[in-house]
Amino acid sequence: MRKSFSLVATAGAVFLAGNLAMIPVASAGEKSLPTEKECKASKPTDAATKGWCVIITRKQGNCLACHDVVTKRWPADLPASGNVGPPLVSMKARFPDKAKLRAQIWDATAANPSSVMVPFGRHKVISESDIDNIVTFLYTI
Ligand code: HEC
Repeated sequence: MRKSFSLVATAGAVFLAGNLAMIPVASAGEKSLPTEKECKASKPTDAATKGWCVIITRKQGNCLACHDVVTKRWPADLPASGNVGPPLVSMKARFPDKAKLRAQIWDATAANPSSVMVPFGRHKVISESDIDNIVTFLYTI
């Protein structure tokens, strides 16, 4: 009886650990990124945090509607993200040319005329400086 209990407990712990491993949570020493509410309240001044705030704020970039942002600093209470577009991950390695990354955000239809991604710069949905801030943030993940 005792043996089977510990077996179940172990299986449960492994299951739990397996699931937790999929949720990127800020590790000790790393401050998690602000939530939309915190962005509004704290008004960040550094470019990368400003960019993150534009990404997650629904009335601005609302990028999470279509993209996961793969970062260990994901705030615990942010809602899950969509998967219409590819997950945003290792951006610096994948876009060594910063101008190309910026161009994708400024007007995704330039590279893919049938893209469903909003041409944020061309349609003036996001200001030029906020597009720069987004690129600065994306280079940190
Ligand atoms: C309506 C859905 C949608 C929204 C909103 C959206 N995207 Fe996209 N995004 C896409 C799709 C689909 C792609 C795939 C390539 C394409 O179609 O242009 C993409 C591609 C990208 C890429 C290239 C990724 C790669 O791995 O090649 C980047 C970077 C990107 N989006 C950033 C953003 C940012 C930043 C925002 C918010 C300001 C945003 N996207 C908002 C749908 C979206």
